Amino acid sequence: MAAAVICGVRPVVFLFSVFISCLGLFSGGETFKRKLTVELNPGSTTVPPGGDLLHVRAVGDNDTLHFLFCSQGAPTLLLIHTNSSSSTLEVDWPLFLARNSSGSLRVEPESSILYSTAVVFSRLLEYDDINDTADPTSDLFPPYELQNFTWSRLNLSGPAALLCGTVSNFSIGSLCLQLSVFESEGRGQLWPRLVHTANSSQMGVWFDGLLPRANRSRFLLELQAVGRAYPLSRVEAHRSIDDEYTPSIFKVSQWVSSVNGSSDVLGFVQWKPVAYRKSNPALEDATPCRHSDPRPQSSETTAASSGLIRAFYSEPETFGLTVSFGLAGEPFYSSTRFLSWTVLVGVGSPPVDSFSPLVVAIMAVGLGTPLVLLLLGGLWVCVRKRAADSTTAYEPIN
Ligand SMILES: *[C@@H]1O[C@H](CO)[C@@H](O)[C@H](O)[C@H]1NC(C)=O
Ligand SMILES: *[C@@H]1O[C@H](CO)[C@@H](O)[C@H](O)[C@H]1NC(C)=O
Ligand SMILES: *[C@@H]1O[C@H](CO)[C@@H](O)[C@H](O)[C@H]1NC(C)=O
Ligand SMILES: *[C@@H]1O[C@H](CO)[C@@H](O)[C@H](O)[C@H]1NC(C)=O
Ligand SMILES: *[C@@H]1O[C@H](CO)[C@@H](O)[C@H](O)[C@H]1NC(C)=O
Ligand SMILES: *[C@@H]1O[C@H](CO)[C@@H](O)[C@H](O)[C@H]1NC(C)=O
Ligand SMILES: *[C@@H]1O[C@H](CO)[C@@H](O)[C@H](O)[C@H]1NC(C)=O
Ligand SMILES: *[C@@H]1O[C@H](CO)[C@@H](O)[C@H](O)[C@H]1NC(C)=O
Ligand SMILES: *[C@@H]1O[C@H](CO)[C@@H](O)[C@H](O)[C@H]1NC(C)=O
Ligand SMILES: *[C@@H]1O[C@H](CO)[C@@H](O)[C@H](O)[C@H]1NC(C)=O
Repeated sequence: MAAAVICGVRPVVFLFSVFISCLGLFSGGETFKRKLTVELNPGSTTVPPGGDLLHVRAVGDNDTLHFLFCSQGAPTLLLIHTNSSSSTLEVDWPLFLARNSSGSLRVEPESSILYSTAVVFSRLLEYDDINDTADPTSDLFPPYELQNFTWSRLNLSGPAALLCGTVSNFSIGSLCLQLSVFESEGRGQLWPRLVHTANSSQMGVWFDGLLPRANRSRFLLELQAVGRAYPLSRVEAHRSIDDEYTPSIFKVSQWVSSVNGSSDVLGFVQWKPVAYRKSNPALEDATPCRHSDPRPQSSETTAASSGLIRAFYSEPETFGLTVSFGLAGEPFYSSTRFLSWTVLVGVGSPPVDSFSPLVVAIMAVGLGTPLVLLLLGGLWVCVRKRAADSTTAYEPIN
């Protein structure tokens, strides 16, 4: 009987602990919070010509994350992480607007800076995919330089800001970027419903109503990552087992910094390889995207295109990549004249997707059913064994 109980109980205990740890994964631990304050054009007495500067200060227990978003030139997001909860931002506006020297935007005290990273949204590329091969090296049109766009003023709502821009060649269309900063962990409301933390911000990019230069046009977006010591230099692709939040997409890509090949990540840009062809997408409006390998770029060109990079970095390192929207056989941009894509930009390790309630429920059923069966089976074996023991106790041994 003892043997029966041990055989029966061991796997049950094991399955039970697996189940509990799965639940633990889903619910997560205590949530980390930051206190957010939002300032538009800090320290400026007038509306700066040439574009706005947004500063979101996110104060943690013993650290501060400064999120800066600026449309002086190409739209740029800069994250500065300090080890002090009282670090401040200083902008020398006349120098900042001249855009010809570094040091016009500083975080004080400078010794508190742990890490900084920036992403420049530099160009929109378009090609004529005449044979529907989705090969972006084929017939590229002259690129749209985002630094030459006419940008709207930043439209703020809480810790979120909307920026839209246009060029004459677009006719009526526009390219918009929406930044959101978060005080604690959560998940976006819209597909691809990325998981965010208090150490990351989310940027949604969409281009709406552009007049494509060919009927079979596809688009690419060029991003440049700028950093001081350890710029974002490699892209990792991870499998994600759960597709409830981002239907049909089982991958997540992250562009990360690497410290001499160690696995420690200081900063990241993370996305799911999917874009949507409608603003309120259904599943069939999802279109896969791909990225090129990050390549070192001329930091001088990047600093010339972005006021924020020029102002903060003196000797930056830059890597660039492009994200191309649509694969062979997918509908062309002209089908809906809309594309939206979302990225997360943050410091520290990128968030890892947890299991959704649906998957937890499936696991509960999948693991719970054998568990119950095992328990019942164990009991049944015990009862039978006891009954057998009592009836066969005096049976002679042959
Ligand atoms: C913050 O710093 C204080 C004093 O230096 C220390 O006591 C506390 O443990 C730190 N908190 C965290 C979360 O690191
Ligand atoms: C930057 O530009 C301003 C005026 O636009 C000029 O006075 C100043 O000398 C320039 N500085 C440098 C370092 O080129
Ligand atoms: C922050 O880091 C700097 C340099 O790494 C160090 O000198 C300073 O003491 C640190 N400050 C705190 C509050 O830990
Ligand atoms: C498209 O296909 C035609 C015929 O197969 C070929 O001649 C042409 O070079 C292709 N164009 C591109 C851009 O691949
Ligand atoms: C847009 O138009 C300007 C002049 O109006 C021209 O210089 C530029 O090359 C055009 N850009 C594109 C991407 O066609
Ligand atoms: C964009 O602006 C830069 C700087 O003003 C200029 O050098 C470049 O020619 C412009 N590009 C286009 C396509 O207009
Ligand atoms: C600002 O954004 C809100 C919604 O995000 C929108 O309703 C409003 O019209 C926008 N304002 C301007 C001036 O664009
Ligand atoms: C965010 O950063 C803080 C301070 O560096 C750290 O204590 C916390 O664990 C981080 N949270 C996440 C979710 O990475
Ligand atoms: C796109 O296709 C339509 C008809 O299908 C044609 O009239 C038009 O000229 C084409 N435009 C371009 C830019 O090829
Ligand atoms: C990385 O390597 C360089 C030289 O290869 C060295 O100077 C630097 O201290 C290393 N950094 C870290 C964080 O190990």
